[in-house]
This record gives sequence, C-alpha cells and structure tokens, in this order.
Amino acid sequence: MTDMIEQARAILRNNDRGGYTVPTHRLYPFQWNWDSAFVAMGWVTFDEARGFTEVERLLEGQWDDGFIPHIVFHAPSDDYFPGPSVWGVEHTPPTSGITQPPVLASAVRRMLDHAKDRAAAEACVAAIYPRLLAHHRWWQRARDPAGSGLVSTLHPWETGMDNSPAWDAALARVPTTTTTPVQRRDTAHVDASMRPRAEEYQRFIHLVDLFRDVGWQPEKMLAVSPFRVADIATNSILLRAERDLLALAERFGQAGHTAEISARAEQMRSAIGGLWSTRLGLFQSLDLIDRTPIDVAISAGLLPLYAGAADASCTRAIAATLQRWAGQVRFLVPSTAPDDPRFDALRYWRGPVWAMMNWMIAEGAAGSGEAGLATDLRSSTRDMIANAGFSEYFDPRDGRGIGGRDFSWTAAIYLLLS
Ligand code: DGY
Repeated sequence: MTDMIEQARAILRNNDRGGYTVPTHRLYPFQWNWDSAFVAMGWVTFDEARGFTEVERLLEGQWDDGFIPHIVFHAPSDDYFPGPSVWGVEHTPPTSGITQPPVLASAVRRMLDHAKDRAAAEACVAAIYPRLLAHHRWWQRARDPAGSGLVSTLHPWETGMDNSPAWDAALARVPTTTTTPVQRRDTAHVDASMRPRAEEYQRFIHLVDLFRDVGWQPEKMLAVSPFRVADIATNSILLRAERDLLALAERFGQAGHTAEISARAEQMRSAIGGLWSTRLGLFQSLDLIDRTPIDVAISAGLLPLYAGAADASCTRAIAATLQRWAGQVRFLVPSTAPDDPRFDALRYWRGPVWAMMNWMIAEGAAGSGEAGLATDLRSSTRDMIANAGFSEYFDPRDGRGIGGRDFSWTAAIYLLLS
C-alpha cells in the first residue's frame, strides 16, 4: 500500500469523532451533510462497516418531515460560528435548519455496489432506504411545491459554494444582519484571504435569523426568503441521486416507488436541459426572484454531466470549455472561469480547485463517453493531492494546497481515485 493511501486513511481516522467524521479539526468541528456522503464512500474503501455508520450518524439529524440538515451538532464546540443557539432548532441531536447538496443516495448506492460483505451492506441499505426516499420527497414537497422540475435553494450555505460569484447579485438583495452579532471563528483557523468576506457573513446570518423567526417551516421559508435560486449543482446532484435512488428502489422499495422516482427524475432532466448556455459553454443556475439565468461560468455548471442531463452536443461543448480553462490555469477544475473578472485563485469558491468537484465531473465524463477526459482529470487530481497534501482546496495556478488542512473529503476522494 502506498504511503499516500495510508495517510488518507489516517486523516479519516484522526477526524473520526465516534462514528462520524468532522471535515477537519477545529475549522469544522461537527458532522456536515455532503462532506459525510463523500467521506462515507472513502471509508468503504477500507472499512465497510464504518462507512455505513457515517451515514447512520448523519441520519440521526434527519427531521420527521424527511429534511436532512447541513450540520449535525453531535457534541459542543466553541471553534465554530454559528453554533446551535443561533439556529434555535429543536431537535436531538441539535442541527442547523438548512440543507446541502443531496449526494447521500448516490453515496449509498456506490457503497452497496462496492461492498464485499454483501449481507451486511444489504441489511444497512434496507434500513437506510426509507430515510433516503423521505428525504427526496422532502426536496420535492418543500423546495419545488409547484412541480417545476427545479428545486429552490434558500441560502448560499445550502449550495455548499458559499461565496461563489454566482450568488453575488442574489446575495446583494439580502440585508446585513441586525439581530445576531457575527462572531466569526473560521478566520482564526484559516487565512482571511481564503474565506468569504465580512459583509457576506452578515448576509448569511441575516438569512438564518429570518428562517429561525418563521420556525424553520418550509413553506414560510420559501415565502420570506430574499435569496432563492435554482442552483445548478444542487439540482444536478439531486437528479443523479434520484437515479441512484431508483436503483435502490428496485431492490428495497415498495410498489409505486420506482414510478414515482422515475417521473421526478424525468421532470428534472428536462428542466435542467433548459439551463444550458451556449455562450458560456456550460449550464447556469437560475435566480428565482427575478427569473433570470445567472450569467457566470463556474464549475458547478459542468455537473449536469454527472447527472446524465447533458446531451451529446452539450457534452462536447463542456469538454471544450474544460480545454479552454486548461490553457489558462495549470490545474483543473477552477471553481470560477479563470477569464472571469471575479476569478480569485485563493478565495474559497471564487477560483480554487475542489477535489470532490473534480471527482463528480470525472464520473460524469466517464458516463458520457468522454473517457479520456475522465482519465486525465482523475490522474491530475491524484497528482495535485499527492504534491500538495490533503488540503480543503487548491490554487489552480500552481496546485498549492490552501484553506483547511488534513481535510476528510479530500482524503476520501484520494481513496476513491486510488
Ligand atoms: C461554513 O461555515 O463555512 C460552511 O460552509 C457553512 O456550512
């Protein structure tokens, strides 16, 4: 076994807090939703039972209506803001009140497919499947009640791409908080030039105040939120997750489940198809407040490939977009197009490369007839991590590791690529 694989496993073990894995020590001291989905797949490469425990512990945070929060606060910590008292959610264990891109069903399907202990994995998935179905039904009911085929996202934190330039205009409509004092902890752990700006945090917290004041009720949140987007990443990840849930429903579901899930997936596929931008050479998010496409090229716009929602001509155009970007930076895939004036090589989602994005884009390329692209992206991602270490994200100009260190999902992606 190579030293890098051993190091990746050691990171997951060191970030293990008893059945759940923190994204990294101090900066993120709880269990995060989409981090855990990637991390669970990473665990399964060397400890199958531990991988399923990761999912079960995340599901301890699931609410009765199927919602899965973006953070589960299993144990107290002063290292993070905003903690449980700001969220004001009544749940045991305490949780946040917003969600995150739903990678979970896709992770569970992959974990099942790769498990060597078939009987144990099948027993776990049989128990998890109804919770996944409830979660997908929540997405449709709470975030697409009109049945448009696109789910709404109500907070930049829900997209996981907090300070992406895609949200600049939509976030500018959100007032800065006047209720909860912002007491940032993140900049004590990571250089401030690599994190969102102070004003963005004040708007992030304003949204939390607003949603807490309506008691985290989905229909009220939709009605009061000044930030409402059809995020291309969330919708693509959900569509992929619907397809994976469909495969699980064939094994573990009841009468009617497969028809229900297929109908949802087909509706999403067609709605996502409408978000193609010929000018940008990728898909766009939609601002649902003023109903305009968000005109900025970001890596999230490549994820319809992962969802199986890009037809042959979009797939070719996406490959050309990546080739163009490869001529502008040394390491793919920058989170924002390098020729966009808002590109910032160091600042979180405004430029840096994220390993799990590369992994999803490569999975999508492999499934869309772009095998060469998939191979190149997988090997450059592995090399980048091998050179720079298991950082949270990477500078696309030179591959330098930036953000948090010893990051769980980067370690998990390395294991998936090895
Ligand atoms: C953070 O705190 O940086 C997260 O992205 C929100 O979950």
